[in-house]
Amino acid sequence: MLKNKLPQWLLASALVLGTPLDVAAQDEVTADKVVTALEGTFGVTPGERRNHTKGTCALGEFVGSPEAAAYSRSALFSGKRIPVAARFSLAGGNPKAPDTAKSARGMALEFKFPDGSLQHMTMLNTPIFGARHPQTFLDMIVAMKPDPATGKPAPEKIKAFKAAHPDNLAQAEFLDSHTPPASYATSAYFGIHTFKFINRDNKTSLVRWRFVPQDGEKRLSDDELKSSPPNFLEQALMARTKQGPVKWDMILTLGIAGDPEDNPTLAWPDGRKQMKVGTLTISSAMPQKGAACEKINFDPLVMADGIAPTSDPILLFRSPAYAVSFAKRLGGM
Ligand code: HEM
Repeated sequence: MLKNKLPQWLLASALVLGTPLDVAAQDEVTADKVVTALEGTFGVTPGERRNHTKGTCALGEFVGSPEAAAYSRSALFSGKRIPVAARFSLAGGNPKAPDTAKSARGMALEFKFPDGSLQHMTMLNTPIFGARHPQTFLDMIVAMKPDPATGKPAPEKIKAFKAAHPDNLAQAEFLDSHTPPASYATSAYFGIHTFKFINRDNKTSLVRWRFVPQDGEKRLSDDELKSSPPNFLEQALMARTKQGPVKWDMILTLGIAGDPEDNPTLAWPDGRKQMKVGTLTISSAMPQKGAACEKINFDPLVMADGIAPTSDPILLFRSPAYAVSFAKRLGGM
């Protein structure tokens, strides 16, 4: 079917190069296919997110440093208090995933500017991502589908996935060699993709950002990993915010020519200029049911003036995938 959609020159070059047409015409990865794969692997919790299903809402504010305005004219860096709706989460579509799971944790932020425009940042606690292209993500989710006989992913499918997708390795090794955070409040979160900052003179800078907890980074010890109950992250965050506000420093890294700008599986080399560009304060946390974050689609391409996407294929694919999941859950599916 897809063969008919391929341009003639591609069909011709596939024939000239001797590429079997079935390979040249490999089915396109679509948002629908990826969301269907998430549903196939994790099941469907009606009305809930198809990924990062287990999560906790939070509220707070952000104050940006006016010095960052040299790089971005975003209202984030006006120096004024910007209200923030946040959501902390566990990767995957299992609403009962244990908080000790060695999967990624997420922090999603929606900043609301005085003129009503929005800026989203939807981050993970790993510095790099496990897919260079949507195909890798799709194949990973399919490989993770539990074998009905064991209730676990089939080891040979995971092995075949890893062999076919070396771009998954760096994030998988990071997750394997780091225990999960002891609290959402003691984790750093990374924007991972490269973004463009645009200033008042229309000068563009390539940047990456991360949020570093002022409480310090604390992970579960190996003993705590074994002894912790399946649900503690939500309670720990609620208890922590009751003691007082939780803060993160937003740290900007400025890229230089040649740094990868469309590959979220690669870290940038050390030695890049870094600067603190703001402080995020989370002052309250609550279960997601009925709270502000529940009905937000934290699409990372929701950006206000002054910040723009790069051509990173993963970043660009996320928006339609989140829209499919969002439409389903809003419709009660
Ligand atoms: C091919 C790549 C990806 C796909 C297909 C994908 C898919 C999804 C989907 C379907 C959702 C649920 C959306 C909703 O119902 O609101 C989601 C949530 C999320 N994703 Fe991704 N994702 C991808 C990459 C990433 C990356 C690179 C990051 C971090 C840099 C990330 C971080 C998150 C977070 C934190 C959430 C939870 C947001 C919330 O709390 O509402 N994802 N993802």
